[in-house]
Amino acid sequence: MKHIKITTEIIVYDSIQELPTLVQDLMEKAIEVKRNAYAPYSKFRVGCAILLDNGAIVLGSNQENAAYPSGLCAERVAIFQAGSIYPEAHILKIAITASSDINLTDTPVPPCGSCRQSIAEYEIRQSSPIEIYFMGEIGQIYKSASLKNLLPFMFETKLL
Ligand code: THU
Repeated sequence: MKHIKITTEIIVYDSIQELPTLVQDLMEKAIEVKRNAYAPYSKFRVGCAILLDNGAIVLGSNQENAAYPSGLCAERVAIFQAGSIYPEAHILKIAITASSDINLTDTPVPPCGSCRQSIAEYEIRQSSPIEIYFMGEIGQIYKSASLKNLLPFMFETKLL
């Protein structure tokens, strides 16, 4: 028997001001679009801003539904939109922020498992890493230099 040990790496920023200017702007856009979340059920609002290599920024917020599983996370709203509008573009950076109408969200909110799987498809397809920055409403910002850091043992096309 053998053990496989997996390590990952996250960079921690203490405030938005500490981020590179380009990423600050991207995170500000994620904060803005979070206001458009339709979250009457969870009261949890998520905003996502994606920077493409053609300079375009594509935004998304979570959109819920009375039939709960029919709703969609902010990250997938944004990334599917990016893929639909700019199929040839590469994704450089993703900024994510979330807040609750009920509690103060002061810890970084990472993309959920389904969103990680969706982001993985784009990262593998473009053969270059996607930087992912995520935060709560206040507090630290975590940066993952690649989706791979967030999803070990990812299910990918080469397995098919
Ligand atoms: N949500 C996102 O938008 N992104 C995530 O990565 C996790 C969860 C949304 C889905 C739902 O509208 C609400 O947050 C509570 O789960």
